[in-house]
Amino acid sequence: MPKEYRLILKHADEPRYSNDLGCYLKHGGYKALKKALKLKNKRVEGKGTLSPQEWIREEVKASGLRGRGGAGFSCGLKWSFVDRRSGKPIYLICNADESEPGTFKDRQIIYKDPHQLIEGMIISAYANDVNLAYIYIRGEFVEGAKILDQALAEARENNLLGKNILGSGFDLDIHVHRGAGAYICGEETALFNSLEGKRGEPRNKPPFPTTHGLFGEPTAINNVETLVNVLPIVQMGGEAYAAEGTERSPGTKLFCLSGRVNRPGTYEVEFGATLRDLMDLAGGLVDGSELRAVMLGGAAGSFVGPEALDMPLTLEDTRVAGASLGSGVVMIFDQHDDLVDTVRRIAEFFRDESCGQCVPCRVGTVRQEEVLVRLGRGSHIDDERDLLDDLATVMRDASICGLGQTASGAIRSAIELGLLDGIAATGGTEGEGSR
Ligand SMILES: Cc1cc2nc3c(=O)[nH]c(=O)nc-3n(C[C@H](O)[C@H](O)[C@H](O)COP(=O)(O)O)c2cc1C
Ligand code: SF4
Repeated sequence: MPKEYRLILKHADEPRYSNDLGCYLKHGGYKALKKALKLKNKRVEGKGTLSPQEWIREEVKASGLRGRGGAGFSCGLKWSFVDRRSGKPIYLICNADESEPGTFKDRQIIYKDPHQLIEGMIISAYANDVNLAYIYIRGEFVEGAKILDQALAEARENNLLGKNILGSGFDLDIHVHRGAGAYICGEETALFNSLEGKRGEPRNKPPFPTTHGLFGEPTAINNVETLVNVLPIVQMGGEAYAAEGTERSPGTKLFCLSGRVNRPGTYEVEFGATLRDLMDLAGGLVDGSELRAVMLGGAAGSFVGPEALDMPLTLEDTRVAGASLGSGVVMIFDQHDDLVDTVRRIAEFFRDESCGQCVPCRVGTVRQEEVLVRLGRGSHIDDERDLLDDLATVMRDASICGLGQTASGAIRSAIELGLLDGIAATGGTEGEGSR
């Protein structure tokens, strides 16, 4: 039986573990912060003398930590691009929008162990010379926002936030900002616009957030899970952290299992565990189920077939297989699932969530959904393939942001796996796909 490896969710499901400060402190909470704030300048072989902030950034780089928000970009590299020379204020943003369909991992941290996120953010802010940080939380997480506000108040009362944190001379405050229910506001530049009180539309890149982010100032933006991973890195050191998982995907990953498994839920495993391991952890397929397909990475990801069961779940292995881990969605489908309708709903989702700013995505997502509606009504995939291919190419190559660039990925993979071949399903309602 495969085992979970809990670095991040180590206490979250323990009986009697509560999300208040007292419980967190009893379980070793804020030790990493105390360690970080006590660091002195250090001489490091080949790097000269490093300030505490530089040392933390170097450790994060050495750890190989890669972003958990979907793109898997190196966290240490991103932090190294933050403009510290201009003297402008630097912001840190925690992206807690978590709106990718099938993703439910960040909320586990927020609801069950909010101080872990706050501690990760304080250290990350300290390392990046940030005095003001924001948590942008999905609007629907009303309770999550309350939990965070309460935890932040506890942190302020105990001088873990505010002026001169624990006598270190470092000042920081963190604010919670609730989104208003748009998937696109999880995209980092749309998120900045939303935080600034504007329409949540993505900006063109470059310039990148590390030089022109929130309010046009240098900004480090990371996912909840990424920021929490900074704690074990500071505690055990970058090199030790890099030994977990695989060489190019170090550490653990939270996976969100849903669909036809016996125990759907969030599972933490080292990178490199296989799809089969994860499904076993989730109690295997429900009785009578035959695995038909797995959606990896959410609506912005892709489908893989049963032949991928032994594929190691790493950023590098999934890329070679033409898939992606995205934010850790693993959705299991069997012979009873109507995949034409599932794929149509994915197309409908992108049509609804496109911000409409650029033509390839605004028009492409509508045309794409129309095709899927036709397929549901009995049209054959061979008659629609060319149009779907053209739409996919235009959206991928000419859209401003990741939403349009990935809006056809799951659909294309479903076609390649033959999941849409010759099936007439229920389809959408009259008039859908033609707004
Ligand atoms: C349409 C779209 C939605 C996104 N939604 C989220 C989200 O809900 N949470 C998140 O962390 N990243 C999301 N991202 C990725 C962010 O733009 C950004 O890459 C991420 O917050 C960076 O953090 P990381 O480097 O720690 O992964 C989204 C990207 C796109 C294109
Ligand atoms: S790709 Fe889609 S979501 Fe992104 S900016 Fe263009 S219209 Fe908006």
